[in-house]
Amino acid sequence: MTTGTGVPSLTDLLRTKRESEPVSLDPATGLWHVYRYADVLRALTAPALFSSDVGSFVPPRQELATVLVGNFVRMDPPSHATYRSLVGHAFAPKVVASLGPRIEACADRLLDAVADQERFDFVAAVANPLPLLVLGEVLGLPTDQGDLLNRYSNAVVFDDGIAGFLDEDVVSVAAPVLTEMRNHLLEQIDRHRSAPGTGLLGELVTAEVDGRPVTDDELIGLTTLILTAGHVTTTASLGNALLCLDQHPDVVAELRADPSLLPGAFEETLRVRPPFTWGTRIALEDVRLGGQDIPAGSMLAVWLASANHDEAKFTAPDVFDIRRTPNPHLSLGKGIHFCLGAGLARLEARIVLKQLLDRYGEIDVVAGDVEHYAADSVQAAKSLPLRVTRK
Ligand code: HEM
Repeated sequence: MTTGTGVPSLTDLLRTKRESEPVSLDPATGLWHVYRYADVLRALTAPALFSSDVGSFVPPRQELATVLVGNFVRMDPPSHATYRSLVGHAFAPKVVASLGPRIEACADRLLDAVADQERFDFVAAVANPLPLLVLGEVLGLPTDQGDLLNRYSNAVVFDDGIAGFLDEDVVSVAAPVLTEMRNHLLEQIDRHRSAPGTGLLGELVTAEVDGRPVTDDELIGLTTLILTAGHVTTTASLGNALLCLDQHPDVVAELRADPSLLPGAFEETLRVRPPFTWGTRIALEDVRLGGQDIPAGSMLAVWLASANHDEAKFTAPDVFDIRRTPNPHLSLGKGIHFCLGAGLARLEARIVLKQLLDRYGEIDVVAGDVEHYAADSVQAAKSLPLRVTRK
């Protein structure tokens, strides 16, 4: 399969990599790329060998304190568990389920706002604002700061991809918005300290870690992690789900007839189009992986998008099968860093997809006008115009 321009698709490129150089060093970047499911799984689930702490690779800039301190996705045991347990209860299944009616109301309101339009940008109208409204509630942050939060998420995650913050130039460009966000979060922390409000931040201002109060930097890092991890990923996954379904009208008909298939369909869209195509790990010692000797201190690019298509793990990996059971894709990670917000992302997706199918008899992606982020570590639409016909 090609992209229509004679250029091989990402799926084809990754298949070739899995076959010919499953673990390989890119001399230009110094990154070791890991493509096969078994090797990706090992890198994700052996934190004593493969660290998540990229601190030594990051330019030493004050602004990055907001991205790293308290940010447990970049921590190893034992501190990882200490920080994760500070916020874990907010994402317990019962708590997430209780958000359902609010998420439904938000999705309804956002779709009502474009109800008279036959064409609208799904990202701007729903996929981008919905997770922000939900996270504002979960965290106890004002939800009228969409512009700042968008600029922030993009600066931290999407404009330059996962590896962006390793690059001094990228960090320089992002620095002003990192500072602006830091100041905004400090104001919110003060507000919760003087009159503890609802949401996670209201609880965290009085919480303790290692027998002392959580510091401002840690509060900012924790909030940043949940905001960025929970916003742009969900936006991307909703857009990716529509892109996948657009290519499978037969599946859309099945979902209309039996909405109980929606969760399986969303999992399959996550497998086929993961928002993060690859993640990073650091080898803590000399390690042999996929037949290669990787020196201690090397950074690995761990390809989730490739693992999800590995023929050694998935039967007919190129078939879009919404009944795939089990579906052990790695798009939400695996092991101690498994996505904390997986249940919330799944709930948001189920609600949005159901509401779209309930409202519209026809939903078509205006393929020629879709705009994607350019970084190779992310798969996400920046804008996703839909042409719709109401029922
Ligand atoms: C479909 C949407 C989502 C995708 C594809 C996604 C993907 C991921 C992945 C791949 C990881 C593992 C990173 C690693 O191992 O280095 C992760 C971790 C994480 N995710 Fe998600 N995520 C999504 C939604 C969310 C949501 C909605 C939230 C919160 C509201 C969230 C919060 C987190 C947190 C806090 C972590 C760090 C967990 C840890 O290190 O223990 N994510 N996510």
